[in-house]
Amino acid sequence: MENILITGANRGIGLELTRRFLDAGKRVIATCRQPDNANDLTRLAEHCQLTVFQLEVTDPESVSRLCAELEGETLDVLINNAGIMGGDRQSIDNMDYSAWIEAFEVNTLAPFRLITSLRANLRLAGNPRAITLSSQMGSLNRKSKGSHAYRSSKAAVNKVMQVLSMELEADGIVTCPVHPGWVRTDMGGSSADISVEDSAEGLFKLIDNMTMEHSGRFWTWEGKEHPW
Ligand SMILES: NC(=O)c1ccc[n+]([C@@H]2O[C@H](COP(=O)([O-])OP(=O)(O)OC[C@H]3O[C@@H](n4cnc5c(N)ncnc54)[C@H](OP(=O)(O)O)[C@@H]3O)[C@@H](O)[C@H]2O)c1
Repeated sequence: MENILITGANRGIGLELTRRFLDAGKRVIATCRQPDNANDLTRLAEHCQLTVFQLEVTDPESVSRLCAELEGETLDVLINNAGIMGGDRQSIDNMDYSAWIEAFEVNTLAPFRLITSLRANLRLAGNPRAITLSSQMGSLNRKSKGSHAYRSSKAAVNKVMQVLSMELEADGIVTCPVHPGWVRTDMGGSSADISVEDSAEGLFKLIDNMTMEHSGRFWTWEGKEHPW
C-alpha cells in the first residue's frame, strides 16, 4: 500500500486530496499546524489508513520531529500543498515586506526543506514522487500585474523543483510542480473556476500515474503541461 504525505491537509485542496487518496485505498499521513482544531480532517479518521501529524512547514524543528517519526518508513508521494498568498498589501505602491518574506518561507523554502529532509524515505519507494502545489500565477510566460509576493514565491519554487528534478534523477524521484486550477477554497475565493473536488480528482489522477517522464516539468490539474 502506498504512503502519501500531504502538508496543509486541514482545509482546502489539502483536505480534499487527503480524502481522495484515502478513497483510493492509500495510506495518508496528513499534516497540519493545529491537529486539535482540524475537525474536518479528524472526521476522516474513520479511515484507519489516516495518520495526522502536527507540522509547521517553516519550522526546522517541526520538520525534524516529523522526520524522526517517519524514520525508516517508505514514502511513495510527498505533496507540498501548504501555501499562503503573502498578505493583502502586494501592490506597486503598498507592499507588506514581512508578509512577502513569509510567502517565500512557506511557498518556496518549505518545499525544498521537506523534499530534502524526506529524501531517504522517498528513496525506499518503487515510484517515488515529490510534488509541490505551485500556481500559474508564478509562470513567467503569463503576463499579469500585482500579487508580487505570491507570484514571485511560486515562480521561485518552480525553479527549485526544476533544479531538484535533475539532482534527484539518480534516486528515481519524480519531482515537479503542479497548478491545481483556480479553485474555490479560502485562498481561491468563491468566484474561482472549479470546485475543490474537481481539482483534487484531477490532481489525484495525475499524481497517481506519474512516472519519470513527468519529472522536471510543470503540470496542470488536468494533466496538461504548463509553460514555465
Ligand atoms: N485555491 C486556488 O485557486 C489555488 C490556485 C493555485 C495554487 N494554489 C495552491 O494550492 C495550495 C493549496 O491552496 P488552498 O486553496 O487549498 O489554500 P487554503 O485553503 O488557504 O489552505 C492553505 C493550507 O496551507 C496551510 N498552511 C499555510 N501556512 C502553513 C504553514 N506555515 N505550515 C503549515 N501549513 C500551512 C493552511 O493551514 P492553516 O489552516 O493552519 O492556516 C491550510 O491548511 C497552495 O500552495 C496554493 O498556493 C491554490
